[in-house]
Parts: sequence; structure tokens; C-alpha cells
Amino acid sequence: MTHKIRIESSGHEFTASENETVLAAALRQGVTLAYSCRNGDCGTCKGKILSGTVDYGKYEAKAMSEEEKRAGSALFCQALPLSDLVIEAREIRAAEGIPIRIMPCRVMKLDRLAPDVMQLSLKLAEGQRLQFLAGQYIDILLSGNQRRSFSLATAPHADELLQLHVRHVPGGLFSGQVFTKMKERDLLRFQGPYGTFFLREDSDRPAILVAGGTGFAPIKGILEHAFSVGVTRPLHLYWGARARRDLYLPDLPPAWARERANFRYTPVLSEPLPEDNWSGRGGWVHEAVIADHPDLSRHEVYASGPPPMIEALKKAVKAHGLPDDRLYYDSFEHAHASGT
Ligand code: FES
Repeated sequence: MTHKIRIESSGHEFTASENETVLAAALRQGVTLAYSCRNGDCGTCKGKILSGTVDYGKYEAKAMSEEEKRAGSALFCQALPLSDLVIEAREIRAAEGIPIRIMPCRVMKLDRLAPDVMQLSLKLAEGQRLQFLAGQYIDILLSGNQRRSFSLATAPHADELLQLHVRHVPGGLFSGQVFTKMKERDLLRFQGPYGTFFLREDSDRPAILVAGGTGFAPIKGILEHAFSVGVTRPLHLYWGARARRDLYLPDLPPAWARERANFRYTPVLSEPLPEDNWSGRGGWVHEAVIADHPDLSRHEVYASGPPPMIEALKKAVKAHGLPDDRLYYDSFEHAHASGT
């Protein structure tokens, strides 16, 4: 049985098939709602049910509170319509019309960027190109219907090779394969692009970009895109990691900073090693952001990293004046850039 769904503000309509979530149905029919993890973890897809009923599905308590649910909220990546619906949802126009496709690709290069970070360079079949927005992610399709998500570390203008930053997770299904068995010229299949983490280009507000570990991957794509299209607004990158070796492309952000007057770079180490001789910023990356920018009321913040970093940052930036709708984040509990 299908159900009709209407978005109140735009009047856009689409239908959901049996057992299809609101988000999956929307994406299938070219309507892009805001989302990130597709897993009930991050809360990005949260909207309101104005009429009709849903099965709320499985989700983490931090993504939606009981109080929000009672007030009519639902996570559209999990919600299964049980009737026709009218909803309130954030639509992302910039990602509209970009098809989500399954594509084969070949591993062209494996570069070990750090002891536990591998850069995979992927090439599509002759004549094929992936249309995507810098900052989006793809799902690598594995046997047994398994998939692992990774952010694209490249910008669309440089799509000759698609690059992923894969962190080695002990026992990880895909990352284990990457670090032990994978060789150049191996074939993979992926589906994508996914996600609504990309630079809002209709804004001229100063942007703060915060990367944690391999959360640098989508931020790198976003910055390279911004540089290529000549974005002139201030861009300040913070890259938080434990030790110096975890800043796995150490020369790249300083080179950007030398070349671009509107770009600043602040690396932050939480546990520098004695041999690091670190005299730079220490502590947590969100603390460094707040110390430098105590009033965020005029800014936008783009953050990508592990859940504890994102949660700490969310609270800190809100307390320092950043409106909720100017925080864009990619929390990779769902394995973006660090998949297992
Ligand atoms: Fe739905 Fe993350 S909770 S996209």
C-alpha cells in the first residue's frame, strides 16, 4: 500500500511504498530533505508530522527526545508512513536533481597517509562521471548486502579520481580489507552521492570549519571547491586530532593559508606526544573555536567528526550565539570517513 506525503511549505508531493521511510521515498522521487546518517543517530532529518501517523522506527535518544516526539517531531530517515502525511521538513534545493546511482569503480592508488589512515583513489569507468556536491558521501557496497559510508575528500571539479580517507578500525569489515588485502586495480561498487553536508554558497557569512580526525575528508572537499569557485568570505579551519601524526595531510592546510588571504588554519592537538614538540593549540577543538570566536552570532559552522566532538561542539556553539540553522554537521557514527 502506498501513502501520499505532502510538504506543507513547498507543496511538494511524493509517495512512499510499503516499508519505505519518508526520506527514502523523497530521495527516490528527487525531493532532497536535509539528512546525514540515514541511521537514526544524528537528528539532521528531524521534521514535524502535521497530519497523519507514522511508525517512528529505531533511533538514538540523542537524535530525538521523547518531548520532541510528543510535540510532533519525527526522524524522516526512520519514520514509516502508516497513512497519508502532511509534514514540515527542511528541503535542500542545491542537492535537487543530483541522481543517486550505483556505479562500479577501480582502485587506482592506495596511499598510507598515517599509520591508520589510507587514502583510496577511485576511478570510474571510461566516460563516466559522478555528479556530487563537495562534502557529500558515498556507500561502498559489500557482499551480503553490507555497505560502508565514506565522505568524498575531493571536489567536483577534480573528479578524475574520487578520494576517500579510510581509518583502520580493528576488526572492521571494509577498513580491514583496505589495510590488508586491497590492491591497486581492484574493483568496487558504490552508491551515491548522499547527504546534505556542503557549503551554503548563497551566504557571505564568515564560515568556521571544524574537522575531527578523518572528518577532514569532506571539509577538504568543501574547501577545495570553495577555492576553485573563488569564495571570498572568511574561512577558518580547525583540525582537531590526538597527536601530530593524526594530522595526516600536514602540509596541505598551511599551503592553503599561504595562498589565500581569506583562509586561516588552526590545528589543535588533544594528546601531543613528547616527540611532537608541539607548541601549537592544545585541548579540545571546540574549546579552541570558542576561545577565538566567543560571539558566533554572525557565523556559519560546518563540522565533521566523531560523535563526541560533534555533541560537544553543538552545545558550545549554541551557548555562544550560533543559531541552530547555521550549524551544519556530519557526525560519523554512521562511518563516514572512518567506516569499519
Ligand atoms: Fe536521520 Fe541522521 S537521524 S539522517
